[in-house]
Amino acid sequence: MKIIEDFSLKNYNTFGIAAKARFFVEITSIEELIKVLKFQDYPNKFILGGGSNMLLTQDIDALVIYVNIKGIRVVEEDENSIVLKAMAGENWHQLVLWTLDHGYGGLENLSLIPGNTGTAPIQNIGAYGVELKDRFVSCEALHKENLELTTFFLKDCQFGYRESFFKNKGRDTYVIVSVSFKLSKKNHEINKSYGAIEQELHKDNIENPTIRDISNAVIAIRNSKLPDPKKIGNSGSFFKNPIISKKEFEKFMEEHPEAPFYKVSEKEYKIPAGWLIEQCGFKGKRFGDAGVHKNQALVLVNYGNATGAEIMDLALNIIDNVKIKFGIMIVPEVNLIK
Ligand code: EPU
Repeated sequence: MKIIEDFSLKNYNTFGIAAKARFFVEITSIEELIKVLKFQDYPNKFILGGGSNMLLTQDIDALVIYVNIKGIRVVEEDENSIVLKAMAGENWHQLVLWTLDHGYGGLENLSLIPGNTGTAPIQNIGAYGVELKDRFVSCEALHKENLELTTFFLKDCQFGYRESFFKNKGRDTYVIVSVSFKLSKKNHEINKSYGAIEQELHKDNIENPTIRDISNAVIAIRNSKLPDPKKIGNSGSFFKNPIISKKEFEKFMEEHPEAPFYKVSEKEYKIPAGWLIEQCGFKGKRFGDAGVHKNQALVLVNYGNATGAEIMDLALNIIDNVKIKFGIMIVPEVNLIK
């Protein structure tokens, strides 16, 4: 383990923000993680995973611990299903591909989401009709102070829409080191409820899709809408889709009958923030190196050398405009690192 001083994090966050870590260390095992967390010389410690859901608004005056623990293994198995444990440093999409190569179903709708496995539960990643919580069994997390390893089961994690215990009460307290999932070995439950998947399958004349077909469809949809972080810095959806009450929704629809929406429950409706932002004229706009993606207004992008503060200014500008035009408050889904 080598501690590096004044380390640029540009290649360690998918937004490609060139903020610096005062100190940086990569760990590849739980033992190394424990050792580093015990270092008294560095009182401030910051845990970094795949860096896919954060905006660095300034340099980090701490020891940044890059969690790069690898490994996938079978925990339990019967004729129909399997429980897999993946270590935090496994790249999420590589894990999804691994499960498909082995014929395990369940994660295919979550194909091509950037980031690492250990970060996935923090915001309960979700896409195309499936959320992480639907396949989640448990995760192991190390307490940053008392160094105890605890297993959190589904009920402990308080998963919600882009929410979890680890994003709220448990914030900055735990380091997730592994995640376990229950997947199917046969009779896979194919989820093509999200309209775009059906359309994509239709293009290729696929009527009875396999889990691989679903994954390929999701990959094609994501590639057509979302920028590749390797080419243009971004953090996926920058904002959450706002959820409004039935009363607010009825008023909103009277004024904007053309707006898309999802019904969440009898009392609540979700409005796509991408639509709201597009209506405010931001889609495809560029302000220096900070911009709004041309195919999906929910995604803010860094064309090269934008700072976190510039992206944040753009985000605040968008929030104000959406509030003024629609009376709806949108909030970031990415973690803002201040
Ligand atoms: N829309 C617009 N303009 C835009 C973007 C979207 O009018 O610029 C409209 C679309 O036409 C559609 C609706 O908004 O009617 C929904 O769009 P889409 O299906 O692209 O999904 P989303 O609500 O924008 C959410 C997730 C994505 C996830 C997709 C698919 C959030 C914050 N985002 O986006 O997640 O991939 O659904 O499930 O919930 C991510 O979190 O990084 C992410 C990409």
